Formats: sequence, C-alpha cells, structure tokens
Amino acid sequence: MIEKLQAAAAFVKQQFGEDVPKLALILGSGLGSFPATVDIVAELPYSSIPNHPVSTVVGHEGKLLLAADKKSGKRFLIMQGRVHFYEGYSMSEVVFPVRMFALLGVKTLIVTNAAGGVNPSFEAGELMVIEDHLNMMGTNPLIGVNFQELGTRFPDMSIPYSKRLIDMIRSVAMKSDISLRSGVYAGMTGPSFETPSEIKMLGILGASAVGMSTVPEVIVANHAGMEVGGVSFISNKGSGLSDNPLSHEEVGLAAKEVEPLFAHLMNGIVTVLLEED
Ligand code: HPA
Repeated sequence: MIEKLQAAAAFVKQQFGEDVPKLALILGSGLGSFPATVDIVAELPYSSIPNHPVSTVVGHEGKLLLAADKKSGKRFLIMQGRVHFYEGYSMSEVVFPVRMFALLGVKTLIVTNAAGGVNPSFEAGELMVIEDHLNMMGTNPLIGVNFQELGTRFPDMSIPYSKRLIDMIRSVAMKSDISLRSGVYAGMTGPSFETPSEIKMLGILGASAVGMSTVPEVIVANHAGMEVGGVSFISNKGSGLSDNPLSHEEVGLAAKEVEPLFAHLMNGIVTVLLEED
C-alpha cells in the first residue's frame, strides 16, 4: 500500500510541481461550484492518478485540482468529489487520497460534506462547523498493518478538529454575516438514509448532524498529524423530523441553493489559511 501511495504522490508532484501546497480541501456532494470562484491552475481526474480510487456516484465529480486564491495567487489543493464506503470501496481505498496528501506534505485539511440535521432546530440550507464526530461506521480505516511512516499505531483523537480552525471558521462566518451552527457529525455507512429511531438515537448520543463520509478521512488525517477543520452543509432535516421522505435529489437541490453561501465561507477560510502560509 505504501508503494501505491508513493506512486500516486510522485505522479501528482510530477504533474503539479515539487512545491505541493500545504493546504487541501475536500468538497462534499453537490458543493462542487466553489472551484469556479478560485483560479484553477491544473487538474487531474482521479482516473489519471496511479492507484487512486474513482467514484461511481452521479454528481460526485472526481478530480484533484491545483487551485490558487484569486487575490494572493497562493496555491492549495481541492479534492472535488470523494469515494464513499457505501460504494463498496474498502476503507483503505476511501482514505487513499488523504494518505496521499500526507505523503505530499499537506499539513492542513478542510473537510466538507452534505449532512442531515439531527438537531431538530437545524433547517435545510444551514451550515455547521464540525466540532467533533461520532464514528458510527462500525469499522476504522486504521485497522490492519500500521503505516509507521504516516503515524503511530494508537493515534490520539482528543482534538479531531482543531480548536484554532473551529474558531477561525466561526470568525470568518461572523465577518461575512453567514449564520453558522456548531455540532457533532455522526458518520454512518449508508447508503440507506436513517430511520426516525436512528436519528433519535444519534441525537441522544450527542450528534447534531449525520452523513455518510468524512469520519474515515478525518481519522486518517489525525493519524498523519494534520490539522483538520470541517464544515457540514445541512441538506435536509433528519429522518422523522420532517414530513418529507429523503432522497439524493433533495440533497442535490439543497446544495445548489446553498452553494453561493458555502463558496463565500470557503473563500474566507482559504484566504485566512493562505495568509498564514
Ligand atoms: N442522512 C445521512 N446522510 C446524509 C443525509 C441524511 O439525512 N443528508 C445528506 N447526507
């Protein structure tokens, strides 16, 4: 696996140049329009990167982008689309890109996703900064041989999402007049949406939102010592909290509506992080 990761990282370096950015961002379902608001210097379809998994879900474009902030010209990476455990990929395939980032020298990872609201006061179209997560996937991407090159056998998870980044994301939202919720993201395997009782259970366990991604990537990013920040976009109320049945289309439609706001928040976050660079 290490050789596969090294081959992928070497290819990205060859294509994007040796000086790979230290900041990477993972864009969740339907949130793909943010790249239109930055300069795209170069792009690599996942299928072109050796050993990189390729997504099968409609609406999850799979590309690695080398992006640049329009003002400062400073560069960062964007993963446009990710592969999910529910697609049938193994956990090690799901976290392949994040491990590749670690080998490329990425230090800061911003994860984003679409999520259902578990907190009954959350409405579709709201944004939430992720304070912590619950791994409800029944497995862990670090099971198996430990890659000592990447991190320790028993990594600490006491600060899975950096407090500094949580505060920074809140202050960017405040300055831009974007209302921002805070909460705990529960990662389920999917692909079925939750039952009403599962949503109640997740609320009792302390979750504010629920989705089918992110947790494996964040575990692996912590293992590799990256600083992680996360934003969920609430695409719908959780099962049983509204009269509507849930559908992937609804998630996509809600994403379209929130895209400008989301892109604005992401631009602010990226600008602050690149200033530190
Ligand atoms: N549940 C799980 N994943 C999701 C949801 C949901 O309600 N909405 C968007 N992703």
